[in-house]
Amino acid sequence: SSSQAIGSTSHLLETAKRLMADDKGLLAMDESVATCNRRFAKLGIAQSLEMRRAYRELIVTTPRLSDSISGAILFDETIHQHTQDGTPFINVLIDAGIIPGIKVDAGAVDMAGHPGEKVTEGLDGLRERLEAYALMGARFAKWRAVFSIDVDAIQTRVINRVTPSIACIEANAHALARYAALCQEAGLVPIVEPEVMINGSHTLQQCAQVTESVLQAVFQHLNEQGVLLEGLLLKPSMVLPGLLCPVQESVETVADMTVSCLLRTVPAAVPGIAFLSGGQTPEMASARLNAMNSRYKSRLPWALTFSFSRAIELPALEVWLGQDDNVEAAQKVLQQGAANDKAARRGEYSA
Ligand code: 13P
Repeated sequence: SSSQAIGSTSHLLETAKRLMADDKGLLAMDESVATCNRRFAKLGIAQSLEMRRAYRELIVTTPRLSDSISGAILFDETIHQHTQDGTPFINVLIDAGIIPGIKVDAGAVDMAGHPGEKVTEGLDGLRERLEAYALMGARFAKWRAVFSIDVDAIQTRVINRVTPSIACIEANAHALARYAALCQEAGLVPIVEPEVMINGSHTLQQCAQVTESVLQAVFQHLNEQGVLLEGLLLKPSMVLPGLLCPVQESVETVADMTVSCLLRTVPAAVPGIAFLSGGQTPEMASARLNAMNSRYKSRLPWALTFSFSRAIELPALEVWLGQDDNVEAAQKVLQQGAANDKAARRGEYSA
């Protein structure tokens, strides 16, 4: 009925507003089993179910995490896990005032006929999975699409070899929009995450062009699918030169290019934009977010905040190393990293 629709709409708006409130940001603690194991392996931490559980317990029990973090994105394995004393992680978060979210895509797979490109899967059975997560207490969700820039292809303009291809952009944008519509039907705020990868030798300008095309397509599809813009959050990559690009522009130039790209493509009705860190160092991710807010905050229609995984978690993981004795020290690092990013959202971060 229409009153149900109004009720669920206000629920969505309330969640989105709470996620963007009080200068906080999100913590993406939703690494898949494979990604989490890869990060553990690099540091010599055992790649087991119990170690992944212990790591997530360290994170959710970090004192005062909620000073800086409004919402935490969980992975399916984690949302079913408990602390050592038997409290479900989801309850630990809710009790701390942190809104639980859940990654619901099934990962990016090679795209047929498009070497080097990926398409994100997970729409089959999604309605039922969203319903189950909502019953468990999740209030928002995440779906990530990835786009790689191939500079050689761009320079040579080989037909069908320019990446990201239109086929890849359209397929991923369509899936993001169908995911977002299903989330809103289930009363979950969709985080729409199109990531333009930092890998490669592309320039800042090339990244800006690609990011603009991707975001245009994403909002075109969101509109076609009837997704309520006020009830979603965008999680984009910053506009950056590729890691192998010889020209690495200043923090201020990156901030200017990123903000102008977003102003061109993201409707003012969207309540918030929460960046992924995407392989930047924690310091660079904080400094760039800080520059955007210190230069533009009062003139932007949406909140600009963070939804980092690596930039917040890796320094803490490097302190923990899988050892019980290091938990407290690792939690301090995690808490400080999140606090730095809250300062960056306010435009008050200094390295
Ligand atoms: P990073 O901040 O490590 O890029 O992770 C964000 C994320 O959620 C990727 O899906």
